[in-house]
Amino acid sequence: MQRRTTLAALTAAALLAAGAAHAQQTTLRVFSGGQNQRPDLMRQLFDKYQAANPGVKIEIETGGATSELQRQYLSTVLNAKDSAIDVFMIDVVNPAQYFSSGWVEPLNAYVGEPASVMAPYLPVYASANVVDGKIAALPAFADSMFMYYRKDLLAKHGIAEPKTWDELAAASKKIMAAEGNPALQGLSIQGAPIEGAVCTFLLPYWSQGKEFNDAAGKMTLDKVAAAKGLQGWLGLVDQGVMKKNIAEVKTGDTVNEFKAGQVVFAINWGFAWDRFQGDKDSTVQGKVGVMPLPAVAGGKSATCIGGWQWAVSAFSKSKAEAAKLVRYMSSPDSAKFLAVQGSLMPVYPQTYTDADVVKAVPWFKDAAAVVVAGKSRPKSERYGEVSDVIRTTTSAVLARTKTPAEGVDEIENRLRRVMR
Ligand code: GLC
Repeated sequence: MQRRTTLAALTAAALLAAGAAHAQQTTLRVFSGGQNQRPDLMRQLFDKYQAANPGVKIEIETGGATSELQRQYLSTVLNAKDSAIDVFMIDVVNPAQYFSSGWVEPLNAYVGEPASVMAPYLPVYASANVVDGKIAALPAFADSMFMYYRKDLLAKHGIAEPKTWDELAAASKKIMAAEGNPALQGLSIQGAPIEGAVCTFLLPYWSQGKEFNDAAGKMTLDKVAAAKGLQGWLGLVDQGVMKKNIAEVKTGDTVNEFKAGQVVFAINWGFAWDRFQGDKDSTVQGKVGVMPLPAVAGGKSATCIGGWQWAVSAFSKSKAEAAKLVRYMSSPDSAKFLAVQGSLMPVYPQTYTDADVVKAVPWFKDAAAVVVAGKSRPKSERYGEVSDVIRTTTSAVLARTKTPAEGVDEIENRLRRVMR
């Protein structure tokens, strides 16, 4: 009898304990972007976080190969005030829009005031993520467009790194002629109507020393320079340096074709380095150089800043736990892990010169300066519209369904009221 009672008491106690543990369990559902945002590495960080925080379970959701597809998906979820997703990753172009739409929970109350919380980050992320004095999101990883190139081919043909687009065209033509490989392209860029095509429009424009917007976000389009920039891309197609169907090329196409040894020069983002060096099917391991983007003759090199942030959903039922997770994902340790494992660019300046990071990605040693000097796409509450107009028009010009002048007129007419 005595024994029975003890057993029953023990069982009850065990059940109670289990119940208590159950009550403490929080499940956080995280939208972690598409493949280029390396959800596999984010999962490893989530696993570490779970191990250190046994009360939290993290479920991961991925999807949307490109930034604008992810924006479409998240706007559907968030417009419906759906509480299923607690945390989501967003492109650097998005915090202003998400914040003004009421989709993200301001983080000040959870992590502190912007002046101190954002100070350690690279300035461009500190500024993109603070809207009206509120922390809209915390930086996950930095990014910038680079010119990747085939070091081996330039050396073989005695060619120095080109500093202007004309030099790049000449170098490409010389190498293509000498190699005699019909599959070899001189330059690959992103001409499909994806978010990256906004940068495709801006790069040659900025490199003429022109600004697309002022500090307040008002459009300051120089139409002559913009048309000249677009015409420059078409000229590279006409010279056989870029392929004819450039208007269909997405980020992943450039990466795959470069990996297959079919491209001399490729414009792409930081993550691409890891694909070139680390992928089993890469034929270019050890043959890849990285250099600043060329300028137009008489202009100066300019690159497009990218990067990804972690935001807490305004509709989450576990905001405090979600904010803690976001803090961790945006920590120096996480930044170092992502740099070493995936060549995802750090959001903290000092991580670029960390010995382990430089060992894994030697060119990161000088890359913080590139991010600091790089230029940002407009910060706008209506960025979705800004992006739609620029990327679809740019792609149409590259597909030759519009002339550069028509394309630029259209950008001006459609954005005049949006960016004022
Ligand atoms: C990269 C950049 C991001 C950009 C996107 C475009 O992921 O980090 O900012 O918008 O590419 O494709």
